[in-house]
Amino acid sequence: MNLSGKARIAGIFGWPIAHSRSPRLHGFWLDRYGVDGAYIPLAVRPEAFATAFRALPALGFRGVNITVPHKEAALANCDTVDAQARRIGAVNTVVVDDAGKLCGSNTDAFGFIENLRQASDWHAAAGPAVVLGAGGAARAIVVALLDAGAPEVRIANRTRARADAFVSEFGTKTTAEDWDDRADALSDATLLVNTTTLGMQGHDPLDLDLSRLPNAAVVNDIVYTPLQTPLLKDAAARGNTTVDGLGMLLYQAQPGFEKWFGVRPEVDAALRRFVLDDLK
Ligand code: ATR
Repeated sequence: MNLSGKARIAGIFGWPIAHSRSPRLHGFWLDRYGVDGAYIPLAVRPEAFATAFRALPALGFRGVNITVPHKEAALANCDTVDAQARRIGAVNTVVVDDAGKLCGSNTDAFGFIENLRQASDWHAAAGPAVVLGAGGAARAIVVALLDAGAPEVRIANRTRARADAFVSEFGTKTTAEDWDDRADALSDATLLVNTTTLGMQGHDPLDLDLSRLPNAAVVNDIVYTPLQTPLLKDAAARGNTTVDGLGMLLYQAQPGFEKWFGVRPEVDAALRRFVLDDLK
């Protein structure tokens, strides 16, 4: 990295931040496109968030990504927030505009849909989607599916009240399913997405009988450690198209990089390999 005095600066706010793959990912693109710029991990405590965030225009930052636990605080502290990020209730990408305003958006929904479209022939209108989980990741995914035109989104969550809250908020195209009925909810589904931590290294396995899932359905696990989760292995063995979780991470980064650094970056095999090397 060889920066000039005019270097474009972006970064990521989180607490902790050491686990984040984003500096490596954006660093790869900065090198590839020869950008005079930097993407910096910013470890910011929750109590310091608002002060640090509001200082970004004065420091000349082009913008930032936001990760746990700051995504809701970022929404509250932006000058403008787009409609989709408002519905998701979280901001993960911020652009400082020419007037020094902090403009918030959420690219997780874009990343999720773009990854599915690139990796499969899935299209939203084809039929019902089943989402396992009702946490923060599920919020972005449910909004993404509804905005993409899914006719029905079934949400199965261990804590039923959280799934019910989604239905109250997101309306009649969403339904809540009991966790114990998750296997039944798979009938006539065209997409199954795991947004829970089940199946992740160090977590419990996801116990799910896939026998009712149509063979034409696409199965996506947003867990990417391991990349081939037991769910994806089971689904592939019975002939379903499977999509791993790494792509969502890579595609959600595209819009921010383009806005801050002026180049639309490509997600390709070399980038996947580079980010994967760090996951091993
Ligand atoms: P994130 O913001 O990353 O989505 P989260 O809000 O902690 O994380 O959500 C984790 C999801 O995994 C939740 O849907 C959680 O279910 P609860 O709402 O009942 O907590 C789900 N989850 C975690 N451990 C689980 C387990 N052992 N069995 C079933 N679901 C589990």
